[in-house]
Amino acid sequence: MSNAVPQTERAWTVGTAPGIFPSIGHSIALFRRPLDFLNSLPARGDLVEVRLGPLRAWMACHPEVAHQVLMDPRTFDKGGPLYNRLRPLMGNGLVTCGKDTHRRQRRLLQPDFRPSRVADHTDMLGRQAELTCRDWRAGDQVDVSAATMALTTRVMNHVLFSDSLGAAAAAEVGDRLAVIVRGLFVRTAVPVDALFRVPTPANLRYRRAVARVHAIVGEVVAERRRRGPDDDRDDVLETLLAAARDGSSEVTEQEVHDQLVTLLLAGAESTALCLASAFDLLARHPEAERRLHAEVDAVTAGRRRPGHDALPRLTYTRCVVAETLRHRPPGWLFTRVTTRETTLAGHRLPLGTTVLYSPYLLHHDPASFPEPERFLPERWLRERATADPRGAMQPFAAGSRKCIGDTFAMAEATLALATIAGRWRLRHLPGYAERLRPAATLGPRSLVMTCQPRAHAPAGSTPRARSLAPRATAAARVQDPRTAGDNGVDDA
Ligand code: HEM
Repeated sequence: MSNAVPQTERAWTVGTAPGIFPSIGHSIALFRRPLDFLNSLPARGDLVEVRLGPLRAWMACHPEVAHQVLMDPRTFDKGGPLYNRLRPLMGNGLVTCGKDTHRRQRRLLQPDFRPSRVADHTDMLGRQAELTCRDWRAGDQVDVSAATMALTTRVMNHVLFSDSLGAAAAAEVGDRLAVIVRGLFVRTAVPVDALFRVPTPANLRYRRAVARVHAIVGEVVAERRRRGPDDDRDDVLETLLAAARDGSSEVTEQEVHDQLVTLLLAGAESTALCLASAFDLLARHPEAERRLHAEVDAVTAGRRRPGHDALPRLTYTRCVVAETLRHRPPGWLFTRVTTRETTLAGHRLPLGTTVLYSPYLLHHDPASFPEPERFLPERWLRERATADPRGAMQPFAAGSRKCIGDTFAMAEATLALATIAGRWRLRHLPGYAERLRPAATLGPRSLVMTCQPRAHAPAGSTPRARSLAPRATAAARVQDPRTAGDNGVDDA
């Protein structure tokens, strides 16, 4: 039975993306100016043909068309250039698996991410956020991208492995991941496998990064196995090993490994980029920053950090996270493949057709969000119930393939933002110019900012303002501000 969303009776428009070149199609435009390219598509139609090198694909530009794709995962299954390249990395885990095993996998992992489980983690989330900015000093130049990645990797290390991943291994995961997401994007935009079999330095770097992530996760699993079943810990690794031990379950050793790689990467990367983007955007929007600080100061008054009970009161902070996810969704472009002949926006698609959907495109269409380039957290305040009348807000996707970590990520980002912003105001370095170039994910990858202590820092956590002279912290990799924020896709 299909659970496709019935489409409105309307005349759909179907078009072709501008600027097609023989052989390479739109790959150069998608690679060099991806966000401008995406923004140009809705004017071409509700469903728009895009050529990825030799591959013909269709972008769902209207929210209802994207919704049909998301709500009918049996027809629009995981596949296409992105997922084909993700499989050697994530195997057949929850992000990449096809429709045949998805329901079983989701049932296995869902309990570890249900809201009550997320509530159990809020104290840990606050502690980890506090640790992130504990050693910052007034005037320090901090690599915010590195700091947020370290934070979210520590959090996933706790949830998945009860902190079994050593500090050096956790740091290495972050570094390798940066190489992987760049390489994945190039392989998605130019889906020609032969190019990536050539042993160029970039291809070798990519292969080494994938191999190291597998080895790091393999070592953690092996160590837990050596300890035996009596060492049962309350983490996702234990959920998986228990299922693998249970003869009636279909969970294999390979699946244990695939799920852990999947969750480690999916869980750390997107939330880190969301947080780094939030600090970047707040520094450019003083009024939103002022309102956020006022809320955080009121909610945390007299306490070291916001806890679980503070979450419902951090309404504006949550709006900042939501608007960051709208303005700059970390997951910005996804692919699907049709498992049968079907019709989309009135257009017939044969079996095996590649279909694309882009949260970035949907979030930046002025027909859905007036003045889409403006960063306006107020859009998400409850009194503006009509903020998303077309259902275009899809940072976590929708339907049965919706992000399993959505509740977790919102709690993590909200608490981290409130904890860090309670202590520090982060400022761009002089001369900073945004050059956001997406990789497989979107967000600032080398954002360096200066720390200014807040007057209302929470009790017991006064930032140490002993030196006003700029100095680098251990986490900071201070670099040329002209290139700060550059994702460096070019070298992938
Ligand atoms: C701000 C943070 C996050 C964002 C923006 C995000 C976004 C997304 C999106 C858009 C999808 C759907 C992909 C598609 O349609 O092809 C997805 C799926 C997924 N995400 Fe997230 N995610 C975030 C955080 C997390 C976290 C914290 C975890 C795990 C702890 C996680 C694990 C997953 C998994 C396992 C899936 C696949 C779900 C399925 O197919 O059943 N994500 N995420």
